[in-house]
Amino acid sequence: MKKVILTGERPTGPLHIGHYVGSLRKRLELQETNEYDIYILIADLQALTDNFSNPKKIRDNILEVVLDNLAVGIDPNKCTFVVQSSIPALHYLPMYYANLVTQARLERNPTVKNEINQKNFNKSIPAGFVNYPISQAADITAFKATHVPVGIDQLPMIEQTREIVESFNRTYNCNVLVLPTAVLPDNETSYRLPGTDGNSKMGKSLGNCIYLKDSEEEVKKKIMGMYTDPNHIKVSDPGNVENNPVFTYLDCFAKDCYFEKYLPQYKNLDELKEHYKRGGLGDMVVKKFLNDCMQEVLGPIRERRKYYEERLDEVFKMLEQGKEKATAVTNVTLNEVRDAIGINYFTDDSFKENYL
Ligand code: TRP
Repeated sequence: MKKVILTGERPTGPLHIGHYVGSLRKRLELQETNEYDIYILIADLQALTDNFSNPKKIRDNILEVVLDNLAVGIDPNKCTFVVQSSIPALHYLPMYYANLVTQARLERNPTVKNEINQKNFNKSIPAGFVNYPISQAADITAFKATHVPVGIDQLPMIEQTREIVESFNRTYNCNVLVLPTAVLPDNETSYRLPGTDGNSKMGKSLGNCIYLKDSEEEVKKKIMGMYTDPNHIKVSDPGNVENNPVFTYLDCFAKDCYFEKYLPQYKNLDELKEHYKRGGLGDMVVKKFLNDCMQEVLGPIRERRKYYEERLDEVFKMLEQGKEKATAVTNVTLNEVRDAIGINYFTDDSFKENYL
């Protein structure tokens, strides 16, 4: 079977290093295998489900998220960008899938539950919001995605999609929809990067993010101001590397070759951690090294962003072509789905012939 990837994000703000280690890095790795058809979804319809009164925020972030993807190295010759709302099938399919899902099941979805608690909807939760996992199932199945590289918070969505696929194929006695598999980052520290302030979540509203498009100076300033072990006061104090975001970031960004280049008195991160735990290693040395590592990663990302910012006409052409291609691909699935249900009265001659 053809291997297809569908993944993406809600365009509600610029992407940060949490997105990078949590899903973008895996996306790039899969791209480099050349084994997949890859679609990157800019999920504006989903973003509307909790920003319906502020559509401008979404409109203003469509290009932003596309540029962030291109900046990290998504190759437009290997991947297709899809703006969700421009694809008819993604509006149709949720209507059919909604019949296969109970209200109780939607409300049990752990990710949706969490978000409802965070968002202060009070008692008036918009139906569109509770239903968004159905729309996400449409995104994934419309492209017949076999693999969905996502952050860990998205696992319940893939699970719910799989249930819908099984229910659809069983109910309509067909094999139209394809069961997708989630692909997670390789190491667990990458599952969720803490904020620069030590908060377990990195979030725009918390003001504790390092954005992919931050300038070199901004990144440095944020790193130098990072929360570390609060009990590591004097350099000679033994320090804690657990729950210390500086070390969590190093787990994700340090490489042995960066030690050789910037901090040759240590061979690798294990040695650095040992010294910190023993005492005698100051936070400034560690932060400065973290800054060196992050600039190594973010430097080329900034360069590529600049390249595309100077060629926006090409980027828009890319989006138009993506829309054409994605519309064609998903219309095939849509027609198969409508055939399977039997709501194809005007394309299936046997409907009429029964009566005439
Ligand atoms: N739920 C994802 C997010 O919040 C965005 C998304 C929408 C998505 N549809 C998708 C991700 C399909 C993977 C596959 O970022």
